[in-house]
Amino acid sequence: MDKLVIRGGNRLSGTIPISGAKNAALTLIPCALLSEEPVTLRNLPRLADIDGFQHLMNQFGVTTAIQGTRPEDFGRVMTLEATRITSSVAPYDLVRKMRASILVLGPMLARMGEATVSMPGGCAIGNRPIDLHLKALEAFGAEIELTQGYVKAMAPDGGLPGGEFDFPVVSVGATENALMAAVLANGTSRLFNAAREPEIVDLCNLLVAMGAEIENIGQSDLTIHGVKRLNGATYKVMPDRIEAGSYACAAAITGGDVRLEGANANDMASTIHALRNIGIEIEEDAKGIHARANGALKPANLTTAPFPGLATDMQAQLMSLLCKAEGTSVLKETIFENRFMHVPELSRMGAEIETEGRTAIVKGPADLTGAEVMATDLRASMSLIIAALAAEGETTVRRIYHLDRGYERLEEKLQLVGADIERLDD
Ligand code: EPZ
Repeated sequence: MDKLVIRGGNRLSGTIPISGAKNAALTLIPCALLSEEPVTLRNLPRLADIDGFQHLMNQFGVTTAIQGTRPEDFGRVMTLEATRITSSVAPYDLVRKMRASILVLGPMLARMGEATVSMPGGCAIGNRPIDLHLKALEAFGAEIELTQGYVKAMAPDGGLPGGEFDFPVVSVGATENALMAAVLANGTSRLFNAAREPEIVDLCNLLVAMGAEIENIGQSDLTIHGVKRLNGATYKVMPDRIEAGSYACAAAITGGDVRLEGANANDMASTIHALRNIGIEIEEDAKGIHARANGALKPANLTTAPFPGLATDMQAQLMSLLCKAEGTSVLKETIFENRFMHVPELSRMGAEIETEGRTAIVKGPADLTGAEVMATDLRASMSLIIAALAAEGETTVRRIYHLDRGYERLEEKLQLVGADIERLDD
């Protein structure tokens, strides 16, 4: 098991290449199940979760080929070919390692007329139910059975008829499963209060490139006209807006000046707005965004919300940054029930944070000092790295497999801009 050792105090400066978006890639990969023709995805991030998904696809008989990119390059190209599917079962031992595996349910059901997927279970940030995934598929005509920890979904003979579903809660994953099921349905389907995250738009763009007919892309009311079959396609994964936001916080907390090459400012308006409120100068251009600290950090009151609101995946990172703001900040987490796992560890580094339910009060500026800390979930781990970059002394972050799920070659990217960080065998 690896650990990261960071010595704080260096001002970050230079350029960080932003990788393809993990949360887009995890919904683009299962789209390959929808066609007998090859689907090639470019700009895929090199992440543990992507490797896990590739392995899961191979279990179904999908062949996958990684095309040549030099080891020193960031990202890679993967071609997936689902000409013959030999199994429609996603087994427990694979799904438990990566809950995004639930995203094979919709496309497998659409392609094969049936799908059996182990229930993903919860994770550190919450129990992560999948009831909305199942209700949406039932609304499209699927028959769902829960048995022995598995979801068994069946389409009527001749395939899903399609239907309408109004989401009581905005759900990214449920919207993705519903979309991937509806594109091959026999009729027209409608989704109301669907998620509008940029990753959903990326999914719709790939599906349309494969021949799907989707109206109102990017809005919360979507209409999908089912088609008989989908073709293959070649598609470039969107840049990772959460990775870009995370490194912007890292630059900001060190008083730095970093270009985030390849970031798309349109995907991260709420994060940019929050950073500007905190006093960070952000410039946007066609090639990326430029984050530059400009004097003292200001406190802010932030509340997470579905897109276009402030991404819950940015809450932990912004909390670390606000530990150094001159004043008291309030952060409200409205999406997940337990997404303050970073608070006890940040407190061990000297942060002054009080939590009350889903609200955190952050007093700043705190004198952060290095410590031995433990990563708990992906974004909490990144918040510890951000705090460590500004802390006095040395911080050791353990269980960094959490980080490797979502940040491609993190220490290399931070070393590019002058951070004193190294990965050691724990
Ligand atoms: C996606 O998770 C992301 N993961 C998460 O990113 C992100 O935090 C989340 O969307 C919100 O933006 C991927 O895309 C792989 P949801 P997802 O369904 O789809 C409740 C990261 O750090 N809900 O939008 O699982 C749920 O409990 C990860 O990269 C139901 O009640 O999130 C939550 O409170 C973490 N029933 C809320 O909806 C359901 O059937 C939003 O969840 C589904 C969800």
